[in-house]
Amino acid sequence: MAESQQHYKAGRAGWQYQPLPAMEEAQFRQWQALLESRTGMTLSRERKSFLEANLTIRLRELGHSSYQAYYEAIHHGPRAVVEWATLVDRLTVQETRFFRDPDAFRLIGDFAVEYSQSRPEIRGLAAWSLGCATGEEAYSLAMVLQERLAKLPAAPYFSVTGSDISQPALNKASIGVYSARKLVALGEHYQGSYMEPDQQQGFYRVRDSLRQRLCFTRLNVMELDQAPMQGMAIILCQNLLIYFRHWRRRQIVNSLVAKLAPGGLLVLGQGELSHWQHPDMVPLKNKGVMAWIRQ
Ligand SMILES: C[S@@+](CC[C@H](N)C(=O)[O-])C[C@H]1O[C@@H](n2cnc3c(N)ncnc32)[C@H](O)[C@@H]1O
Repeated sequence: MAESQQHYKAGRAGWQYQPLPAMEEAQFRQWQALLESRTGMTLSRERKSFLEANLTIRLRELGHSSYQAYYEAIHHGPRAVVEWATLVDRLTVQETRFFRDPDAFRLIGDFAVEYSQSRPEIRGLAAWSLGCATGEEAYSLAMVLQERLAKLPAAPYFSVTGSDISQPALNKASIGVYSARKLVALGEHYQGSYMEPDQQQGFYRVRDSLRQRLCFTRLNVMELDQAPMQGMAIILCQNLLIYFRHWRRRQIVNSLVAKLAPGGLLVLGQGELSHWQHPDMVPLKNKGVMAWIRQ
């Protein structure tokens, strides 16, 4: 039996394990429905073993003996809210990197310059990285804005908000410390300008001068309408909507329109939204970048 299906128990003689039965079809559907109703994420059949593996680890950590016992604890246990947050962190894919989509960042840099020059009365430019995971995307956004706006004669102040459903990911983002391996994507100029060696050998931290432009906050995109963000000049949302059903993607993007300032830019990942139109949004014809401007 695969390790993911084993439940371990500490005994006098050391660690023994009791096998967990494979997750039944009805149970899988129950977990799928729970995850989708609370986070919007759909879990395909191909990811059943991923779910089983992660639940099993968590069951083992907490000492539950069955998927059902854990399911009940997630709903009614004394630590249900905290436990749900832990589980969501385990079940979300937080893969990310600096400047993951270089074309999008080029477009954002050009946009920021034009937006600021055509609106000299605007003193602050707010940008938002939605589903920012461990922060690399939000810091990339800040680096581009700093590079491009600092050269303007009347550079506006800018700020970047990073939001995500995973609190542990956000904690890492706020600290802003990354391994040398992660920095490769930054190139020499950005590394030298915005990162400095951390006390931890082989790690680098975002310089305070840049870090002070960012804030990170927990936000479930299913609750966008209650989020305080508004008047955003730039919203970047990539590799998040891919986990959602198409009707929900459209619903989320419609809510994002209301968060944009007039003239603001919305950037999604390539191919993440099809056949979407909005009376206030004009698509940008940019090869390789999916973007719209709010009228
Ligand atoms: C694959 S990462 C993308 C990171 C970054 N945007 C990028 O493109 O590199 C997806 C992120 O979306 C977050 N996420 C998933 N469901 C979410 C939800 N309902 N609300 C907010 N964030 C969510 C995950 O926690 C994860 O950090």
